[in-house]
Amino acid sequence: MTNTDERRRTPRAGTGRQDWSTWPHYDAAASGFRGYWYPVTWSSHVTGTPRAHQICGDKITLIRDGGRAYALHDRCPHRGIPLSMGNQQFPGTLSCVYHGWTFGLDDGELKAVITDGPDSRICGKVRVRTYPVEERLGMVWVYVPLAGEPPHPIDEQLPEELVSTPFVMGGRIDPRPGNWRFACENGYDEGHAKYLHRTSLWRLFKAMPTWNLTRIERKGRWVFRVQEEQFWSADFPGLGTWSNQRWWKLRPPKAKASNIGNTGAAKKIDPVIAAQEFPGFASVSMPGVLRIAYPKFIHYEFYVPVDDKSHRYVGVMVNFAEGLATLRFYAKYLGFVRWLFHGQFSGQDAAMVEATDAPPERLYRPDVSLTTWRALAEEEYGTKLEALK
Ligand code: FES
Ligand SMILES: [Fe+2]
Repeated sequence: MTNTDERRRTPRAGTGRQDWSTWPHYDAAASGFRGYWYPVTWSSHVTGTPRAHQICGDKITLIRDGGRAYALHDRCPHRGIPLSMGNQQFPGTLSCVYHGWTFGLDDGELKAVITDGPDSRICGKVRVRTYPVEERLGMVWVYVPLAGEPPHPIDEQLPEELVSTPFVMGGRIDPRPGNWRFACENGYDEGHAKYLHRTSLWRLFKAMPTWNLTRIERKGRWVFRVQEEQFWSADFPGLGTWSNQRWWKLRPPKAKASNIGNTGAAKKIDPVIAAQEFPGFASVSMPGVLRIAYPKFIHYEFYVPVDDKSHRYVGVMVNFAEGLATLRFYAKYLGFVRWLFHGQFSGQDAAMVEATDAPPERLYRPDVSLTTWRALAEEEYGTKLEALK
């Protein structure tokens, strides 16, 4: 028996589960894992006018003052009016629209009550919760605490290659229905891309394998999907042959899969991407970050929990170009990547995420991708909770 035959016959750990009791932290994280940084909106959308947002079930308002972005709990402690309905009456503060309670942006303390005069006795005795804020990748990120703990540095959580290497990027932030875990699982799901996306315009001229043999490899904070063997057509006993190849699609590469790019095309790889030595082209890390490495660019998806029923899809495409090559990237991104990849292709995923209804579920061999991601989340979150004790 060859190794391949053996793998085909050995049931993988993690298949056949009906519920999520194996991963209690993950099961409980319907509204997201607290204790992480999340991208909320584009930096350019945070202005002197406060706006309402929601992450991990927390209602927050974002406002910019003196060039800095601030995040406050979006609820006036007086009578519960959203502070995002208010506006700024004094620099460094935000006033509630109803009775003019005025809070400091940096510490949330009640600094003045306009309708109670300068000697209002309640000043300094009330505070609105504030959230740590950072700006990265052209977005405002907010730390959602577990229990009032100080945040870890955001750079520890970003994909390592985005911390100090120069890059250009294009992206979309779309509010989407469906639980964030379904979105993350869909992103990392081994089995779906070659079948669901075979009809997408993005894949119009590129054949996808019928199926793969996949191994999962852990490296640092990430788990990688490693494609060991690709099968471009398959004979299904008693049914016939099935293949995604068509005469108008490029032939699949003959060379061995390079592990960069999902068809294993042996193209020249960008030196920054090559230097990362990714074991596989798809990887996922906490708190729901997907990284798909192609030969010339990397695509990221951040699944930001809004509440238990909806999330924000943040799709970012990064190219490590400098100088004139950045113009080529922008032309390509705005010309078609944004519409075909971040639009129509990703829209197929959005439809599946909205329609997913699990658990109960009955997993199959490629779902080792899902169970490994859940195990990673379970382990990392357990360690985080232990550290806070
Ligand atoms: S409800 Fe905010 S000031 Fe009264
Ligand atoms: Fe997909």
